[in-house]
Amino acid sequence: MTMRLFINGEERSAAVHPLTPLVDVIRDELLLTGTKSVCREGFCGACTVHIDGVPTMSCLLPVIAAEGKAVTTIEGVGGPGNMNAVQHALEEHDVVQCGMCFPGMVMSMTAYMERRPAAPRADIKAAMSGNICRCTGYERIIDALLSIAAKEDTTA
Ligand code: FES
Ligand code: FES
Repeated sequence: MTMRLFINGEERSAAVHPLTPLVDVIRDELLLTGTKSVCREGFCGACTVHIDGVPTMSCLLPVIAAEGKAVTTIEGVGGPGNMNAVQHALEEHDVVQCGMCFPGMVMSMTAYMERRPAAPRADIKAAMSGNICRCTGYERIIDALLSIAAKEDTTA
């Protein structure tokens, strides 16, 4: 069956079973391999994308549930040359280790920091709880995210 998706601002289609996990369509059919497929059980957050702006684990979502909605992957939120605030902060703080968790982390935290750019440390920590970093660099990631508000303060 042909599934039609609106992904990163473009219409794309894929001939797949409607119950195929969205992450598999994104990676294997549309070749947007920035989104990672790790636990495939809704546990690690590596597969996080935005569906109509809401962070969503794409390993748990059948592709048919994404039809007619705006899907954004890591390729759609910024990259080299046009990084968003979260990506900038993570790069400036040099926090990436193996990088496997980072696409999902960036998707979750981009949505969160847009809503709460001045969130305190404890709240950021709680917001990150759905994204597991096996390299355990959490404290530096939080420091990086806190710097977004600090930077806005000094430029206000
Ligand atoms: S791969 Fe989807 S939550 Fe881990
Ligand atoms: S940087 Fe390696 S899993 Fe997070």
